[in-house]
Amino acid sequence: MYTFNLHSLLSVLILVYLYKNCDGKRNWEWKPLSIVGETTNPSAMDMDMRIERVGRGEFFFSGTFFWNIDLDDSVLIKMQILRSHSGSEADYKLTPWSIPQQTFIEYIDTFYKNLLIANLGNCTDLPKYDSGYVPPWPKATFNFTRCGIKGDGLPEVLIDGFYRAKAIIIALPTVQQNITVTVRVTLKLF
Ligand SMILES: *[C@@H]1O[C@H](CO)[C@@H](O)[C@H](O)[C@H]1NC(C)=O
Ligand SMILES: *[C@@H]1O[C@H](CO)[C@@H](O)[C@H](O)[C@H]1NC(C)=O
Ligand SMILES: *[C@@H]1O[C@H](CO)[C@@H](O)[C@H](O)[C@H]1NC(C)=O
Repeated sequence: MYTFNLHSLLSVLILVYLYKNCDGKRNWEWKPLSIVGETTNPSAMDMDMRIERVGRGEFFFSGTFFWNIDLDDSVLIKMQILRSHSGSEADYKLTPWSIPQQTFIEYIDTFYKNLLIANLGNCTDLPKYDSGYVPPWPKATFNFTRCGIKGDGLPEVLIDGFYRAKAIIIALPTVQQNITVTVRVTLKLF
């Protein structure tokens, strides 16, 4: 079960944050369509990101993430992956790759450190904790400047369609921040 979840979260994170102009053994390629933030409380947490296309097929994302709450065990995160065959909104269905809710602090010491920061590197000033989370998490506007995309760890075989990765950060009672990335997956023509 743990292994399954680890693999799932790996896929989610990479879908959320990474794009690679893939030329390996994969039978598919993908194109980011949108990255959208939704918040219930912009004075507590907010996101403003955009996808930039450079040349014919290189994609980056840039923008800011505003964090203005204290981080403790009441701050939770969960992730979902949805797929739509047609791209129409009504057609998006949850896939089995959803990630159960956990505390954001647990997330920092696992996936954040091992995948997110490891892959993003220096395009962002998000805090880096090489040997474990040390409080406090800063209240800041974090910057992302042309974050480019590696993409290791994704499945080699996917069915085509529209995939949506949605991370939901919850800080009770009033803060909910959604981060939604939509990509289109097409099969490669050999
Ligand atoms: C975030 O996503 C959840 C699940 O899709 C939804 O119920 C909620 O209304 C969204 N929150 C915001 C702030 O849009
Ligand atoms: C990030 O920047 C630091 C300090 O400038 C440098 O030592 C490190 O190699 C860089 N990491 C990456 C992944 O570029
Ligand atoms: C993000 O950029 C702004 C403007 O340059 C700067 O004031 C701020 O300190 C940066 N954020 C972090 C976390 O370094």
